[in-house]
Amino acid sequence: MTWSLKIIIPLAFVALAAHVEADNKVVCYYSNKSFFRQGQGKFDIPFLEPALQFCTHLVYGYAGINEASHKLLPLNENFDVTKGNYQHITELKRRFPGLRVLLSVGGGEDVSGEGSEKNMKYRTLLESVENRLAFINSAHALIKQYGFDGIDLAWEFPETKPKKIHGKVSGFFINLKHKIVGESVMDEKAEEHKEQFTALVREIRNNFRHDGLMVTLSVLPNVNSTVYMDPRQLAPNVDFVTIQAFDFFTPTRNPKEADFPAPLYELIDRKTDENGDWQIRHWLSNGFPNNKIILGIPAHGRAWKLTEDSGLTGVPPLTIDGPAEAGPYTGEPGLLSYPEVCAKIANPQQLKAGAGTHLRKVGDPTKRYGTYAYKLPDKNEEGGIWVGYEDPDTAGNKAGYAKAKGLGGLAIIDITMDDFRGLCNGDKYPILRAAKYRL
Ligand SMILES: *[C@@H]1O[C@H](CO)[C@@H](O)[C@H](O)[C@H]1NC(C)=O
Ligand SMILES: *[C@@H]1O[C@H](CO)[C@@H](O)[C@H](O)[C@H]1NC(C)=O
Repeated sequence: MTWSLKIIIPLAFVALAAHVEADNKVVCYYSNKSFFRQGQGKFDIPFLEPALQFCTHLVYGYAGINEASHKLLPLNENFDVTKGNYQHITELKRRFPGLRVLLSVGGGEDVSGEGSEKNMKYRTLLESVENRLAFINSAHALIKQYGFDGIDLAWEFPETKPKKIHGKVSGFFINLKHKIVGESVMDEKAEEHKEQFTALVREIRNNFRHDGLMVTLSVLPNVNSTVYMDPRQLAPNVDFVTIQAFDFFTPTRNPKEADFPAPLYELIDRKTDENGDWQIRHWLSNGFPNNKIILGIPAHGRAWKLTEDSGLTGVPPLTIDGPAEAGPYTGEPGLLSYPEVCAKIANPQQLKAGAGTHLRKVGDPTKRYGTYAYKLPDKNEEGGIWVGYEDPDTAGNKAGYAKAKGLGGLAIIDITMDDFRGLCNGDKYPILRAAKYRL
């Protein structure tokens, strides 16, 4: 008796520890775009290495699909294949033996093809068994050829319509809103597409099973997963789903109104479902196991131009005048990487001296909504900016949430927007690091 207990107890511990370990996934998204950024923003594969000590999975974004043949294809043949980026990425597994590398398709980046409507090919592909089979066979071949461990479906379903501002003239806008909601049933075949997506995932699983390849999903920002995904039916056939719980507000979608882009919890007077907690609870309450849910955390900020009409407080929501100027590295109006944000924020001395050209940071003691920083416009209406962003503290809070809910882990989307050179405070990947330590 005693001897058997002595053996059983340590074994049970080992099993338990291994289980907990296996459930704490840190999924790192890597985007090909970063290679083509300017100056300090330019990202080369060696920069991945300090991140990979923290990552359990690396998701390579993004591949696309051919509209005519429905086959999975590299979006940049020259870069991905000829120059060998696919291969270089999967070869990292030699140095990081536990790492699993997935090829992601879609991601809102696949603009190839002539399709009448954006993303239409993602729905057309679903509509017949033959189309799906062509996709699956091509995916299997591509993934095997370059040594990926599986596929991530960041499927490009149509995005929801952005929320409209309703201010003083709310009567009028409420009517308008009703019209918009009616119209937002943009896809008459949504119900069928949902079933067909379940079928696609099941068919991929069956095809990949023999080789032990993984199948994961990414729910893209502003894709309404209640419309297109059936958590209960998908659950048995996926390894995990990453819920990209951010970009609820962006300068492109909401050029006239700035708000927290990635709140964890619901704010007063906002849409109930535009926050991380709602999204997670939706999957949980529809039969999806908690340990297969990954909370997706951004490493970028969303930036708008403040004007005279925005008021003086900086407190969102704010009336605004479109996207802020592009950052020096990312070069895209309204988008800032974490190092681009941190370079703009005033340090305590600068704040005492009146911030000057720097932004004033407003933290989030509630741990519910996120951080922002802003600077009011000058007398000539120039230089006003408001940016909502993730920082190591808020990313850590989100990791704490994932842990408390027993989720499978977290994802950073994407790590090339984190401070991979350590420009902010000397530490490389401060967002990834902070999130990992709180998991
Ligand atoms: C990166 O991917 C996007 C689509 O995902 C594609 O349009 C672009 O050409 C790719 N760029 C590079 C540099 O690979
Ligand atoms: C998502 O779809 C549901 C209906 O399934 C709808 O009630 C909800 O408002 C939609 N969410 C958004 C953000 O459009």
